[in-house]
Amino acid sequence: MDEARTLVRDRLGLDFPARREADLERALDGATDAPRELLDALRAQPTTDPRWRALIRALTIQESYFFRDAALYAALVERVLPDLIAQRRAAGDLRLSLWSAGCAAGQEPYSLAMVVDRLLPDRTGWRVSIQASDLDTHALEVARSGVYGDWALRDLPVWARGHFDSRDPRRHVVDERIRAMVQFAPLNLATEAYPGSLDLIVCRNVLMYLADDIRHEAVVRLGRALAPEGWLVVSPLDSTPASEANLLAPVELAGVRLLRRRDSAPPVPTQAQPDQRKTPAAPPLESALQRARAAADRGQLDDAIALCLQALRDDPLDAEAHLLTAAVEEERGDLPAAIAAVRRAIYSEPDSANAHFRLGSLLLRRGDEESGRRSLTTAAELFGEHAPASLLARVER
Ligand SMILES: C[S@@+](CC[C@H](N)C(=O)[O-])C[C@H]1O[C@@H](n2cnc3c(N)ncnc32)[C@H](O)[C@@H]1O
Repeated sequence: MDEARTLVRDRLGLDFPARREADLERALDGATDAPRELLDALRAQPTTDPRWRALIRALTIQESYFFRDAALYAALVERVLPDLIAQRRAAGDLRLSLWSAGCAAGQEPYSLAMVVDRLLPDRTGWRVSIQASDLDTHALEVARSGVYGDWALRDLPVWARGHFDSRDPRRHVVDERIRAMVQFAPLNLATEAYPGSLDLIVCRNVLMYLADDIRHEAVVRLGRALAPEGWLVVSPLDSTPASEANLLAPVELAGVRLLRRRDSAPPVPTQAQPDQRKTPAAPPLESALQRARAAADRGQLDDAIALCLQALRDDPLDAEAHLLTAAVEEERGDLPAAIAAVRRAIYSEPDSANAHFRLGSLLLRRGDEESGRRSLTTAAELFGEHAPASLLARVER
């Protein structure tokens, strides 16, 4: 199983720690009766090989729905995109470039296209590009077909209903105009080159499945893929303060945490706005940890902590739940609680570079220079050749 785990990590970036080993085993069992032969064949093939494609399909989680996270879409419709559009109009540069990275079956990029269409109904003179990519080519085929069941539309705002042909009530087809706005292509975020000069990148509920070092690297690369005024949207566990450190700055907009390049214009000041957001209902089959992430995503920090506790009751050694607890406690300004939670994550996963990195950063914030440097040194050793330059600089100082 170790061999399979290493191969999947190296080629796809996907992380299968001990507690998810059963998922990996199930995927391999479903793919073959002769795992040794299959692993040898996979090792020799590019990930476009049909055997890889089948395995990718079994290993990835495709859960997505239109307008996932109403608060995020409110921030995009009311602030982020209108500001970008106004800037571009003022500069006479009528271009807009968006990327949905890890787009599953297209629900996210089509939601973005519907938003852009709403804000720029008459796009004459504009060059709008919406790229959408995923590792799973089967998901991309579904995306291109634009056909969805009821469940994918469970949180659809009323204004977007007109974008679907729902003559068959169980089969909703995205209208041709919206479909034509999105270009789908396969892209492995762990190993392939990213597009550049993007005004908005949405990469949500994707990086959390990647190994710590690859996820860390991906956040940095996503930051570099932004245009100077661009925005990056990830979920709380996807990105860490350490990954963002040099390149990205968090900006809170209407209760949603977004990222901008530090070298961009000063962040848009947060305005106290009437809370028009509708809290999306949590899908019933999501785990406590997934719901905790979604709550943290919406800025509902107390709910997020309660859900983390629920996840930890099921599995007290769930390092991800401890790390999310730490992120939320840090957000709430409770440094000792954040440090205690990261220590528990390290107890569960002693080799997590990300957890040591976060512990080091938190200890330094608390003024504990010696222990902080020690943790950062451990993180640098665990990251190995993937250690970010900013970390090495801090360790060597
Ligand atoms: C849970 S879905 C998220 C979909 C959408 N972004 C959302 O938030 O609703 C996760 C997606 O990430 C994709 N994915 C996983 N690893 C990836 C990788 N290394 N490169 C690109 N996509 C990846 C999966 O195939 C899957 O479609």
